[in-house]
Amino acid sequence: MPTIVFVSPKGGAGKTTSALVLAEQLARSADVTVVDADPNHPIHTWASGENTPKRLRVVSDADEENMIEIIEEAAAQTPFVIVDLEGTAAKIVLLAVSQADLVIVPTQGSQLDAKQASRALRVIKQQEKMSRRPVPYGVLLTRTSPIIRTRTMAHINTAFADAGISVFATELNEREAFKAMFSFGEPLAHLDTREVSNLDKAIANAEAFATEVVSTLRQNKAASATEAA
Ligand SMILES: Nc1ncnc2c1ncn2[C@@H]1O[C@H](COP(=O)(O)OP(=O)(O)O)[C@@H](O)[C@H]1O
Ligand SMILES: [Mg+2]
Repeated sequence: MPTIVFVSPKGGAGKTTSALVLAEQLARSADVTVVDADPNHPIHTWASGENTPKRLRVVSDADEENMIEIIEEAAAQTPFVIVDLEGTAAKIVLLAVSQADLVIVPTQGSQLDAKQASRALRVIKQQEKMSRRPVPYGVLLTRTSPIIRTRTMAHINTAFADAGISVFATELNEREAFKAMFSFGEPLAHLDTREVSNLDKAIANAEAFATEVVSTLRQNKAASATEAA
């Protein structure tokens, strides 16, 4: 069952936020395990709130020794496994990527961030060589303005496209709601519209992201089935 791994060398790229946004959306209709391998365990902490979706569980004791077993166990128990990691240098990242059906590389829209994303892509390529199998991935542009399309963003998109790097059509916009989930320890749907502006837009954005991830997984599965036949 699909394992989705969030990777980026840069702290603050939006890994934890986009991992939780996706987990929460998927948990509306399926069982989801989040492997919270960030040493600060932000998703584990978030899940201590009382409105945590019933279909979402968090495992936070993953380390280099047990990462593969933890993912295997989780994949046997729930249809979706989402792994939130910190950095790219550590062996734990390579181990998690080795188990991935899809790697998501969150990246903010600056030149510097895009460069950092390339480091994550190198880790993916390295893993592909080691395991001799393709590792499907996509760059997710995060914290983008829902209104303004900056020149830098356009440039980054073109650069990724020229390099043959796949980028999700959906971007995770900069929204107060995506921060508020963590500050209040609540799922998006439980946030208070009087306290959080544009909540409906954040929810629509989260839904679009989850829909694109699910359809990407389906396409990849269909493609690998054709290849195997
Ligand atoms: N789409 C977003 N909208 C608003 N704030 C965001 C968004 N994505 C991330 N952030 C904020 O940016 C900071 C870093 O995000 P985080 O998800 O923790 O990154 P990472 O896990 O890559 O270190 C956090 O304060 C988070 O609340
Ligand atoms: Mg994080």
